[in-house]
Amino acid sequence: MGRPTESSTLTNSLTVRDNRTGKVYDVPIVDNSIQATAFKAMTAPAAPGEREENETYKGLRVADKGFLNTAVIRSEITYIDGDAGVLRYRGYPIEQLALHSSHLETAYLLIYGTLPTKPQLSVFEAEVSHHGVIHADAEQFCRSFRYDAHPMAILTSAFSYLGSYYGEANPSLQGQSLYTKGDAASLSIMDKQIYRLIGKATTLAAMAYRVRQGREFVTPPTGLSYTGSFLYQMDHLGEENYTPNPVLEKALDVLFLLHADHELNASATTVLQTGSSLVDPYSAIAAGCASLYGPLHGGANEAVIRMLISIGKPENVPAFIEAVKKREKVLSGFGHRVYKTSDPRSFIVRKTADEVFKITGKDELLETAMALHEAAMKDEYFVKRKLAPNVDFCSGLIYRAMGFPLDFFPVLFAVPRVVGWLAHWRQMMLQEGGVKIWRPRQIFVGASKRDYVPIEARPLVDGPKKTPSAIAHSGITKRTMLASFKGKVVPKL
Ligand code: CMC
Repeated sequence: MGRPTESSTLTNSLTVRDNRTGKVYDVPIVDNSIQATAFKAMTAPAAPGEREENETYKGLRVADKGFLNTAVIRSEITYIDGDAGVLRYRGYPIEQLALHSSHLETAYLLIYGTLPTKPQLSVFEAEVSHHGVIHADAEQFCRSFRYDAHPMAILTSAFSYLGSYYGEANPSLQGQSLYTKGDAASLSIMDKQIYRLIGKATTLAAMAYRVRQGREFVTPPTGLSYTGSFLYQMDHLGEENYTPNPVLEKALDVLFLLHADHELNASATTVLQTGSSLVDPYSAIAAGCASLYGPLHGGANEAVIRMLISIGKPENVPAFIEAVKKREKVLSGFGHRVYKTSDPRSFIVRKTADEVFKITGKDELLETAMALHEAAMKDEYFVKRKLAPNVDFCSGLIYRAMGFPLDFFPVLFAVPRVVGWLAHWRQMMLQEGGVKIWRPRQIFVGASKRDYVPIEARPLVDGPKKTPSAIAHSGITKRTMLASFKGKVVPKL
């Protein structure tokens, strides 16, 4: 990039000179952003020898692998200032909400834009609770998974499964403007699916939990908070007047609120990308859930604990840090695409951890986690790259102290994030100008046109990544390998 020069006539636009053609373009700047399509107008004749696939005559493309600087929507929901460590839902600082609000009140705020009045909140809570009940057939669905299925596999599938019950909520069956009309009937259908998805998220998650324990399922209780009901559905074994511990109920509520939204993270973006085809919200939420499961995103809380277990004692931390610096290991729970100083959620998580540890006792991995934190924060490698602990670094320790199994941690992230996904999905459905399908571009660097070669005349192409790898067949015994049969595959050694 050349150095900017100051102009005496400052306007809110960008002047671009295309040195291929000498043409000068003025690109308007609106809200400190420019339209990528403005570059599409910058066409040029192909340079001598240039590949036709560059499509130079069709205008410049804007390359942005990993969406490092691409704004895909105008949003009013969540604001993050990653350098200052600021997170606000609809303008309200996360610290204030964590202190004074509840997960469902915050859900209302995120989805509808304002804090509810008492009667508004009561209706919202009652609707969410009412829609927690699930069709009895869902039991068969959950039981169809293997006894050791990862609960995220169950939850992701369950969201999609849920959609099969609600034909009236499916734009493929009811017409594609089902959610984009914005009239009273359309809004009412939309809100019903919002209640259903938030209400049933805890029910499905609790079922995924209980199926692994070999327990009967529990009908969602009435009269409990969102997280109280969730704990009840996971833990109640028929005891009389069973009441979840209020400290754990409150801690989980705070954690849910902190995880409710985080603007355009990978999973929210997936929900919007999927939703942009106007698919039903159940399919879009299932897609978001799948995206969240990855270890770089919501799977990081599980990965942190697996990492701490592998490190073991605090004295092993220095060797682990060295391995991370040599890129042999990953320090899960550190680093963030947006936060470059600190993740404001991590401070609240640490405070919540203190409350939980007071009644559960400290986790045995806490000391290792603290030693790791201290070592990384002092180390030049992490300081230079602005890598600080994120929300996942500590949340896993709380979940462990609460007695949740390791692989359930991403579920505890996904359930509250349903709220954020729905807020973004609803905003996109109702945005001015309707929904535009999300269809990014690519830079094609593959083979130019070539003619089909008969199999006898083809040169051998071989080597890693160029041909399918040899694979081991599981479940095949030595006896089977020694037998002869039609279609036998002999793996390359
Ligand atoms: N450990 C070691 N090095 C790291 C880490 C880490 N956790 N995170 C980033 N780096 C290095 C990375 O190797 C790169 O170094 P270099 O410039 O020398 O190649 C530099 O820091 C910049 O990292 P990046 O990968 O370009 O950053 P990104 O914005 O693409 O990725 C991230 C962000 C969160 C995926 C990444 O920091 C990471 O993998 N962290 C560990 C997984 C994790 O904790 N994820 C949870 C994120 S917070 C909750 C959520 O949103 O789900």
